[in-house]
Amino acid sequence: MTRLAGKSALITGAARGIGCHFAKAYVAEGARVAIADIDFERAQNAAAEIGDGAVAVAMDVTSEASIEAAVDATCDAFGGIDILVNNAAVFTAAPITEITRADYDQVFAINVAGTLFTMQAVARRMINDGRKGKIINMASQAGRRGEPLVAVYCATKAAVISLTQSAGLNLIQHGINVNAIAPGVVDGEHWDGVDAFFAKYENRPKGQKKQEVGAGVPFGRMGTPQDLAGMAVFLASAEADYIVAQTYNVDGGQWMS
Ligand SMILES: NC(=O)c1ccc[n+]([C@@H]2O[C@H](COP(=O)([O-])OP(=O)(O)OC[C@H]3O[C@@H](n4cnc5c(N)ncnc54)[C@H](O)[C@@H]3O)[C@@H](O)[C@H]2O)c1
Repeated sequence: MTRLAGKSALITGAARGIGCHFAKAYVAEGARVAIADIDFERAQNAAAEIGDGAVAVAMDVTSEASIEAAVDATCDAFGGIDILVNNAAVFTAAPITEITRADYDQVFAINVAGTLFTMQAVARRMINDGRKGKIINMASQAGRRGEPLVAVYCATKAAVISLTQSAGLNLIQHGINVNAIAPGVVDGEHWDGVDAFFAKYENRPKGQKKQEVGAGVPFGRMGTPQDLAGMAVFLASAEADYIVAQTYNVDGGQWMS
């Protein structure tokens, strides 16, 4: 399949999980992909596993210097950037009475500022190069509503949805489409971490929360990265040229909007 033939992509947080699977799906569609992650060793392993078409890039989305360096490295490898997936994020949970300023600052720095300033750096490069492009931000069903123990993460994902709307409206004049994907619950290391938070705060056995959320999905199970890849390829492709500033739920029926 060649829906992304000749395109080059930068995917943040792609050393594992959803971003890593998107990198595989993009390469399978003919793109070349920079696997950018703060865990560089794991990014290198992921790139080696994918082989031709993938390179590993060290990137900390909380540092503007690191963002610039990752954009430069991707452009050096591929000659420019056509597709950005803002995928890097971290999860946190705590009751309102226990949220710390340090945790709030870190999670907003990665999930919100990281998304905004990576979007900014890549958009500047696309405009400078006269390249039309696609930017896909990873939101979440958590950005659609609050949760008693998940105030900070939910707020970051609501901010990602809002940034997608504003950036989408601002950048379409340059032929840059900005849209987002809102997954529901996707199995993997991220959700192992989420499960551990609920085990701590709700005094549950490990694994119980995961089982419950999976059973609660209308589709009948948790999602997998593969369940999201079709939307990620579609939004990166020319088929999505007329789609601007939208956030798509890909969540087995958990949320309707
Ligand atoms: N897994 C889910 O259930 C789920 C649900 C909704 C939304 N999402 C979103 O989808 C995206 C991917 O989720 P996932 O499950 O693959 O997560 P994950 O935790 O498995 O992977 C996140 C990646 O981001 C990297 N990262 C963390 N901090 C970074 C930084 N400062 N700079 C660069 N990279 C950094 C990590 O090293 C890791 O490789 C995230 O935006 C997440 O919020 C996930």
